[in-house]
Amino acid sequence: MSEDIWNLPQRDLWDEKAAQSYEDLGSPMYSPEVLGPTVETLAGLAAGGRALELAVGTGRVAIPLREHGTEVHGIELSPAMIAELRTRMDADQLPVTEGSMVDVRVDGEFSLVYLVFNTISNLYSQAEQVACFRNAAAHLGPGGRFVIELWVPRPQPVGSAHAQVFSTGEGYIGMDVLDLSTQRGVSHHIRYEPDGAARVSFSPFRYVWPGELDLMAELAGMELEHRWADFSQAPFTSESTSHVSVYRLR
Ligand SMILES: C[S@@+](CC[C@H](N)C(=O)[O-])C[C@H]1O[C@@H](n2cnc3c(N)ncnc32)[C@H](O)[C@@H]1O
Repeated sequence: MSEDIWNLPQRDLWDEKAAQSYEDLGSPMYSPEVLGPTVETLAGLAAGGRALELAVGTGRVAIPLREHGTEVHGIELSPAMIAELRTRMDADQLPVTEGSMVDVRVDGEFSLVYLVFNTISNLYSQAEQVACFRNAAAHLGPGGRFVIELWVPRPQPVGSAHAQVFSTGEGYIGMDVLDLSTQRGVSHHIRYEPDGAARVSFSPFRYVWPGELDLMAELAGMELEHRWADFSQAPFTSESTSHVSVYRLR
């Protein structure tokens, strides 16, 4: 794998093609079983206040949360993703500030900031991830909450092959190749065309354990209030493959 992949700006990874194919309404991440509990839980945590979604994308979560009655603002790096969002909701209903969740500021105070769908991992260094926590905290009023949704990493033992198949389906294999020294990985998405040809695409990430997130929250003046396995608030256990962590500003 070429080192160049780490120099590709996220803005270029989330281009027009990615933005348009992101809106695949057949995907489970748009299903009522996923979005229903997500919106209910986020609305409850916002407790009538304003919410800010970091990396709002095409509004998969922000739009139904707004429709549910919570005032929502977004931060998003990719103009193509914002343009796609705009085909579904206007700026007066859902304002979005273009820029990085690491440092861009939105006016006013929020009772909830949230970052879902594993997107903290789109920041490739610990320093940037800590900066993102600090930026989230800077937007919160007293007692405000920051919610992160993220998968639980399962690295291989040192010395073994650091490749993991995370998904297989008809005509698709998804595999992560991990570098334990940097906590970086690259997902390889292999799709087979009807004629048998394979198409490969890549997505780089930095994986983070729940305990490391808790320390980032400490550095930003927040503490863990809840850790659930998902947005339906199922208990988080050693079998959980992902988590929803709620941090509260001290
Ligand atoms: C997996 S999508 C998630 C979108 C949306 N939150 C959702 O749940 O559907 C990741 C998004 O993160 C955005 N992104 C990546 N790095 C970012 C950064 N540093 N600041 C703001 N947005 C970023 C990408 O442009 C993309 O829209």
